[in-house]
Amino acid sequence: MSCLVSSRIGWIIFLVGLIEVSVAASAVLGGDPATGYRLITEKPYLPPDFDQEIFDRLWETWDDPQREEAQRADIATRRRLTMRQYGLTPRPNDHLARPLQYVVTADGQYSMNCFACHGGEVNGATYPGAPNSRYALEQLTRDVRLTKLKLGKPLSHMDLGSLFMPLGGTRGTTNAVMFGVALLANRDVDLQLLPRRLPPPMTHHDMDAPPWWHMQRKQNLYIDGFAPQGHRPLMQFMLVEQNSAEDFQSWEEDFEHVEAYIRSLQPPAYSGAVDTKLADEGQQVFNRSCAECHGTYGAEPSYPERRVDWSEIRTDRVRLDALTTVDRQRYAESWFAVGHADEVECAPSGYVAPPLDGIWASAPYLHNGSVPTLWHLLHPTERPPLWRRLPGSDDARVGCRFEAYEQVPDKVSRRERYEFFDTSQFGKSAAGHDFVDRLSEIEKRQVLEYLKTL
Ligand code: HEC
Ligand code: HEC
Repeated sequence: MSCLVSSRIGWIIFLVGLIEVSVAASAVLGGDPATGYRLITEKPYLPPDFDQEIFDRLWETWDDPQREEAQRADIATRRRLTMRQYGLTPRPNDHLARPLQYVVTADGQYSMNCFACHGGEVNGATYPGAPNSRYALEQLTRDVRLTKLKLGKPLSHMDLGSLFMPLGGTRGTTNAVMFGVALLANRDVDLQLLPRRLPPPMTHHDMDAPPWWHMQRKQNLYIDGFAPQGHRPLMQFMLVEQNSAEDFQSWEEDFEHVEAYIRSLQPPAYSGAVDTKLADEGQQVFNRSCAECHGTYGAEPSYPERRVDWSEIRTDRVRLDALTTVDRQRYAESWFAVGHADEVECAPSGYVAPPLDGIWASAPYLHNGSVPTLWHLLHPTERPPLWRRLPGSDDARVGCRFEAYEQVPDKVSRRERYEFFDTSQFGKSAAGHDFVDRLSEIEKRQVLEYLKTL
């Protein structure tokens, strides 16, 4: 079913769109990946969140012993500790050791960029395009606010917005989808700001960002595949009030480069040992049991981009319902979908099975990041109900090292609570995808080995 925009306006948008699409399509071909990367890391599209002075004093808000450690450290070490505290990583080949996730201007202003959620680590090294599964947006924003109040500095859009909007309840996940809903409701179809109004109804929930190296395999965006790809959808992130409709138009070419960059990304190759015999057997099992949804890999890859009805997949359904038909229609009618309005799916029935290229490197698993390793994905009844990530990776089970808990220990601070993934919380269920249980234990071992090679 396509999202038909029934009004006459819709048709006009659609027709204008047809013309614009052909223009845009030719321009996209000109997008340059290196320029895209440079724009993301160097050009601030959002107002700054904080400055160097704030960044350098964030440690003062921490609990001991981290606070003490920072207090004793020299400035360079302290900055490294600060980056680690919030899940930031140094940019590759940058002698200034700036974080990948923020644009840092010459006068020391930090503005969040796409890599805040889409630039993480693989094997302990920064890997742009890998999900940032350690990003601590909520924590960072809270500490920035405290530090600004202490230093008497003005609050930014993010500091104020976060008073009304939860940013994410668990490290590594964010309420990003609802940011988009709230901000788009403030605009008319041409992205002109509307007079201030109450926020639309929202169902807050957290998601684990997907890896960008999937985009070259996909036609549509997001876990429910509701929106067709293009450079404009990538611009939703910049909907803050400070950016005008004219700004969006002037940035279109930039985002053709960003799109080219995203589509150029390759998954990282597995660096550990692989038992090739076991993996070959796993490929047979995979092609029998998984390929109908996830596609095939190797010399002649295929990818069906299949949307699986929720009644079949039964993973957490909050995300599916949180984006309402009204929200999706608003998107379909907006500038972001011009020329594609009727390809927007306003009532998707489930989630799209993602490509599994580089799957070993994008733990935790499922769209809400509820499952720490591939082994646990393949063993639904063994998935930990409450877990806390530990440093390093679990190479045997492929994914995050973690510790399981019966309950959140008494007297943990708010800061520590943020480190626990509690699958009993709203939107955080680790249930579903249990048809993997049709596999025997030996088949699961074979498939696990094969997944390392994708
Ligand atoms: C605060 C975190 C956050 C930031 C910042 C962010 N994203 Fe995302 N992004 C997400 C999440 C979460 C999803 C998954 C949404 C879904 O599936 O519903 C996503 C999905 C996407 C997808 C679709 C991927 C897929 O496989 O379907 C693309 C492309 C994307 N983002 C591009 C961008 C770009 C470009 C920027 C910067 C201009 C950006 N994002 C900034 C969190 C973020
Ligand atoms: C009927 C379709 C279907 C089949 C068959 C299927 N999957 Fe999935 N799979 C999905 C869907 C849909 C998702 C996304 C669910 C979500 O995130 O809520 C998914 C998610 C996954 C993920 C997590 C991806 C991520 O990025 O977090 C892995 C790994 C996976 N499947 C592996 C397998 C393996 C291995 C098999 C075969 C044993 C298999 N799947 C069979 C539909 C399927």
